[in-house]
Amino acid sequence: MTMQGDAFLKCIDPDCGLEYPITSTNVQCEKGHLLDVKYKNKPAEKLKDVFYQRRNPQGSIFNESGVWRFRELLNFCQIDTENLEECAQNLVSLDGAEGRLSKPYHMSKAAEFVGIKSDNFWLQPEGYNPSGSFKDNGMVTAVTHAKMVGAKKIVCASTGNTSASAGMFAANEGIDCDVYIPSGQIAPGKLSQAYQFGAQIVQVEGNFDDALKQSLDDAKKDGYTVNSVNPFRIEGQKTIPFRALEYLEWEVPDWIVYPGGALGNTSSCGKALMELYEWGWIKKIPRIAVINAEGARTLSDLYNGDFNGEELRWNKGKPNTDLINEYYDDHDIKGLLPKTKATAIQIGKPANILKGLRALEFTNGVVTTVTDSEMLDSMSVVGLNGFDCEMASGASVVGVKKLMEQEIIKKDDKVVGILTGRQKDAMLPVDYHHNAANRFAKPPKN
Ligand code: F0G
Repeated sequence: MTMQGDAFLKCIDPDCGLEYPITSTNVQCEKGHLLDVKYKNKPAEKLKDVFYQRRNPQGSIFNESGVWRFRELLNFCQIDTENLEECAQNLVSLDGAEGRLSKPYHMSKAAEFVGIKSDNFWLQPEGYNPSGSFKDNGMVTAVTHAKMVGAKKIVCASTGNTSASAGMFAANEGIDCDVYIPSGQIAPGKLSQAYQFGAQIVQVEGNFDDALKQSLDDAKKDGYTVNSVNPFRIEGQKTIPFRALEYLEWEVPDWIVYPGGALGNTSSCGKALMELYEWGWIKKIPRIAVINAEGARTLSDLYNGDFNGEELRWNKGKPNTDLINEYYDDHDIKGLLPKTKATAIQIGKPANILKGLRALEFTNGVVTTVTDSEMLDSMSVVGLNGFDCEMASGASVVGVKKLMEQEIIKKDDKVVGILTGRQKDAMLPVDYHHNAANRFAKPPKN
């Protein structure tokens, strides 16, 4: 079934609502608001069976892919999704590897640490993607769109994982890739991936927020932006909750929990849930919990009213954006910079904050913060279950613990936490275990 004319871009501001053709490469409307990919067509619920059947891929990489398995729900290419030749012509894929190994797992030791029944708690290791993080889910769709519009070079700023993912897909597609890196502030394993995949590294003096600004400016002249402000990134990342829900047989959990950085994940989870609910595929809406690092807590400060007392909300499309600008100005004047050892989420100006707020409003979400040592303990306890994750992903685990202690997450609630990336900072666990004072440390013997 071909769906010509089904997909378009639309500004997220309900008062503005400007629309653009699907081939537009703008990441904002002309008034500076973020864009959504929209579909006129409502997918039939019986597709749930099709998605399930594709778990036996029957020789197709587009069924094997944990992203393209759900291709009817992100069909911005407007292709006949059953025609595998059309899929091959249009859809970028690392031979079906993206999103293929991630699903929710029970991890008993992590559950014990959190204080939740193991049967009610799942962690979904998105680090088991080919480049080692959840980014591959959205990069594969962004690069598909880049290919659709004939882009020769993709560009991103990154705390490391985005650049690894962009570099990987660019190499596979034979296109150029420039990655803007905050000098000295990314894990060595991530930087080395970008080099390995042949990306052009651009070192920026400053932090991620500075790197993003510079990359967006430069991409206007020459390049296609693949950061999560790109609405096509968000489409692919919807498959993270799709896979979680499918593995739970579409029995909606009470909570989905993410670390919060630029808020692409929060935005995509919110969009996925809004769409599923609107189509009647789910009857209940899980609540999203976003966990910031204590040292990079913009969303938490604004959402919880810890700056100027006002609790920032989407407010049905009329958020108080002045408050956000005042917060940024205040931090700039005082020279306050985001600081956490979890460099993946060391972000002060989350580019998707408005979409994030929309997701939180739709899901009655919550936001909290956790310390670096809490994230390290969580990363370590995940390891004791035989699973691997990076420090920022630990936020999802200890965030649940904290929200349970506050009785925001109730003791019988069902919770899915997303482990966003694999360990790429080899010395972090070594240093952790060398210090006997750490909760899960097993120091070496002589
Ligand atoms: N976890 C990991 C492992 C990440 O790499 C990131 C973001 C996040 C969480 C935050 O996700 O931005 O969707 O809220 N890393 C980006 C990068 C910024 O450049 O790799 P978000």
